[in-house]
Amino acid sequence: MRQFVQLIHNTSILSTFNSSRSEKKYIRIYRWSPSLRSNPWFEIYPILGKSYGPMVLDALISIKNRQDPTLSFRRSCREGICGSCSMNILGVNKLACLQPFKILSSKVITIYPLPHMNIIKDLVPDLSSFYHQYKMISPWLNYKRDPHNVKKENLQSKEDRLKLDGLYECILCACCSSSCPSYWWNSGEYLGPAILLQAYRWISDTRDTTVEERLQFLGKGSMKIFRCHTIMNCAKVCPKNLNPGAAISLIKNQVTHF
Ligand code: SF4
Ligand code: SF4
Ligand code: FES
Repeated sequence: MRQFVQLIHNTSILSTFNSSRSEKKYIRIYRWSPSLRSNPWFEIYPILGKSYGPMVLDALISIKNRQDPTLSFRRSCREGICGSCSMNILGVNKLACLQPFKILSSKVITIYPLPHMNIIKDLVPDLSSFYHQYKMISPWLNYKRDPHNVKKENLQSKEDRLKLDGLYECILCACCSSSCPSYWWNSGEYLGPAILLQAYRWISDTRDTTVEERLQFLGKGSMKIFRCHTIMNCAKVCPKNLNPGAAISLIKNQVTHF
């Protein structure tokens, strides 16, 4: 089936696909492999019949299984839970497993990896720095136990538990951080919307006994949180409808009144 793959090097060929009267759809994918020692290129794959499920991820899996086993992308749950299949589909960062294929009106659906990230291969970005930043915010519950009563449970009221809604649902897909212009240009020092939303999740947890240390860490220097300029690209793209920009504003408020 490899003959269905076409190498596209210029946009005039792309417009031919778009203006064709055929109902057929194509997926145009950014490709790059470190082993080929060549520049990135696009490949266009026809979508064959109805042999795949309804989502863009299903079409990618079908391409990999039936047309081109060299295509690389991440996926795991196929349910919008693991955050693995984030990519840039028709210019917007999304989860491929939650994007229905049919509602995309374009005949040629262009897919890039998440923007402004180093690429390992094809649609697989290198998330090492992202996860390193995640580790920096201590994404776990810190609780100093009473040494005289170590068996005492660390309970939380229903009201306090509700404070975590809109925060705990984050699946670390990085759609928001890779949409954020401030993160594009300062990703070495600015922690970005995903990591800061996670940081606020632990700051908001009434069982945590290290909120002061968390705020001190985030407030140190001018880059970790204060590079957010409330552009709100993050909230527009979040597949879980979360609002990292709002969480960052709340952290800034707490840090400055600390
Ligand atoms: S609100 Fe802040 S974090 Fe979100 S996109 Fe804008 S600058 Fe980035
Ligand atoms: S806040 Fe939303 S877009 Fe950002 S990492 Fe979490 S789930 Fe993904
Ligand atoms: S495959 Fe898990 S979120 Fe898409």
